[in-house]
Amino acid sequence: MKLSKRLESMQFSPIRKLNQYADEARNKGIKVIGLNIGQPDIETPSVFFEAIRNFDAKVLAYTDSKGIPPLLDSFLKYYNNLGYNLDKDNILITNGGSEALLFTMISICDEGDEIIIPEPFYTNYNSFSDLASIKIVPFNTYAENGFRLPDKEVIKGKITSKTKAILISNPGNPTGVVYTKEELKMLIDLALEHDLYIISDEVYREFVYDNLLFTSALEFSEVKDRVIIIDSISKRYSACGARIGCMVSQNKDLIKTALKLGQSRLCSPTIEQIAAASLINTPKEYFDEVKKEYETRRNILFDCLKGVPGIICEKPTGAFYLIVKLPIKDSDHFAKWLLSEFSIDNKTVMIAPASGFYSTKGLGEDEVRLSYCVNQDDLKIAADILIKGLLKYKEIYK
Ligand SMILES: Cc1ncc(COP(=O)(O)O)c(C=O)c1O
Repeated sequence: MKLSKRLESMQFSPIRKLNQYADEARNKGIKVIGLNIGQPDIETPSVFFEAIRNFDAKVLAYTDSKGIPPLLDSFLKYYNNLGYNLDKDNILITNGGSEALLFTMISICDEGDEIIIPEPFYTNYNSFSDLASIKIVPFNTYAENGFRLPDKEVIKGKITSKTKAILISNPGNPTGVVYTKEELKMLIDLALEHDLYIISDEVYREFVYDNLLFTSALEFSEVKDRVIIIDSISKRYSACGARIGCMVSQNKDLIKTALKLGQSRLCSPTIEQIAAASLINTPKEYFDEVKKEYETRRNILFDCLKGVPGIICEKPTGAFYLIVKLPIKDSDHFAKWLLSEFSIDNKTVMIAPASGFYSTKGLGEDEVRLSYCVNQDDLKIAADILIKGLLKYKEIYK
């Protein structure tokens, strides 16, 4: 039987596609340390589980497609605490940041429209744009300079009559880059000059290191109707499985239009919305500790890798990822090889080949994305396995 062309051309997730090899390694008794996925190992705040335990309705009913009022209130409180004055018509609760991205793309683009994205980018931007029949128009950013944005003219050169938006992940997955206010201003100016939206995926907003200040796209009042924020509790509160996020915009027409999509999928999960609403009561110390932990891990991983001959990476300042350029030709093959043929003391490491984070064919084939969502001891072991594995691999595949 024939399947759709739409999905035939869609890629499998580069983060998950090596699972089969990882399972085979585990079946052989090898411990696989996963640096492939951004699944935080940090505990979800206990208020979340308390709220679930306290759920005692007799019927698990649908909720309002916009999201339940206590959850909308808690997001509003969160945003108001950050100094952004929003109201309920500025927010639509979604099934994670993922659905917020899909809703956003479908709400602002027609078939064949274009969205400009710095590459490498979060791999599912590819999948969502495929689903929405949107063309991604990438521009390059480079490991050698820490994936900073290029000059305005480079981005301007990508704009056509079909361009609807510029999409960024800030702090960046997979790069760990945190854009400066000046870089954001340049994008905002382009949006104003060329009648575009800015989609700012800020799901890693809390994870910014080295005492850097984070600038949200919401700060630019001159373009408030043009800015769409993608948000989620997945990373902020280590609650990926809850599938709760939201799209946020001062453009109320946009939120109202996206609600049509919300209504078509009826609602976000009821119990998880209730539990997510309680997360606003998470003590501030939780974030201080979590941030300190990720910053330490970032330092451990970066210090292990820096100076290794042939490895190129700049110290990332946000999120919990690092893109590393390696002296190899095919990081897919290297990642599989690590799982199938290399181990030290019965341990190996799983990494994400970076080509899936690019839409330009051929790019990223000598790069991998590493996440630091494992404890410090495992992280040191994983870095050691990666470096020694690389040496061995280069001996075999000269
Ligand atoms: C940049 C970015 N945006 C959005 C998402 C989607 O997150 P979720 O759907 O779990 O909220 C992720 C997940 O890894 C991500 O890295």
